Amino acid sequence: MMLDDKQLCVNVHHTAVWVLDVAEAFHRYEMLLGLHGEMQPDGTALMRCMHEDYCLVLMPTAEEQKPYLRYVAYELRSGLSIAEVAEHLSEMGMEFEKMTVPLRGEAIQLSDPDGNLVVLVERVRPADPRPAVMHETKTLRGFHPRRLGHVNYLTADAPRQAEWYTRVLGFRITDWIGEGAVWLHIDPRHHVLAFLDKGYPHIHHVAYELVDWGEMRTVLDHIAKHGRFTTWGPLRHGMAQNLATYWRMWEEEHFIEIYCDMQVLDADHIPVTHPDNPYASNTWGVLPPRSYFRFDEEAVQIERESEYSYYTQK
Ligand SMILES: [Fe+2]
Repeated sequence: MMLDDKQLCVNVHHTAVWVLDVAEAFHRYEMLLGLHGEMQPDGTALMRCMHEDYCLVLMPTAEEQKPYLRYVAYELRSGLSIAEVAEHLSEMGMEFEKMTVPLRGEAIQLSDPDGNLVVLVERVRPADPRPAVMHETKTLRGFHPRRLGHVNYLTADAPRQAEWYTRVLGFRITDWIGEGAVWLHIDPRHHVLAFLDKGYPHIHHVAYELVDWGEMRTVLDHIAKHGRFTTWGPLRHGMAQNLATYWRMWEEEHFIEIYCDMQVLDADHIPVTHPDNPYASNTWGVLPPRSYFRFDEEAVQIERESEYSYYTQK
């Protein structure tokens, strides 16, 4: 059965990250980013921003496996079952496998052309449909992101990646910067996914949304107290409009972005190709350091040395 509406996904639900030590990573995400959650009997951990079931799975690395982003999971459109999507993908000639994810059960996993693992889970509407700020709680702390917002990958072929996500999963192209960087959306927010051509595939960042600029100040003061320096920002992206700051989660080879005030798209949005100039990256002018697109040992070392040399100063 081919589905009429080719948009399969409506939401980024969670990321899963292989970590060397689940207890250490749990504590780190709790301390640095304000996520909360529970260790699981199987040795993994589930974490969340607010009242969602979870937005992050921490899983132990297998032997000789490096800590890294394992996959990104998207929620399917309401009413769309795993069985229907499996049939749809089969008819498209796509290769995929069934897997299980925490709490949601059966899911589908498939690889994009770069080999990034994409997971699809059935949509579960929240039991309490009120805005999150109206939910009573005895566990949520004062400082936490509002939600998991988007992921951004490096690639050697942005058009090929964009073509796959639009054709297979029904993502829509929002904007390009030049020909080598593309942003995609599945709801009115400017992007849930992006690819930047830097000549090689790699996760670049996982982004968490904050309420506003004031919260960003809180986070930045907070992570500074924990010895983390920002790599780029605070800044105002031209394309996408968001206020953003990035710091390196060097333990698992990616950056964390915190952001707010992202562009909300018109229903009839037409993709814009922005010129590849500094203004599209940061209307305030400061461009990222060269290490920002690198994950090799030297780049990480340069940033870590500056963090620790300052951090240990009296
Ligand atoms: Fe981002």
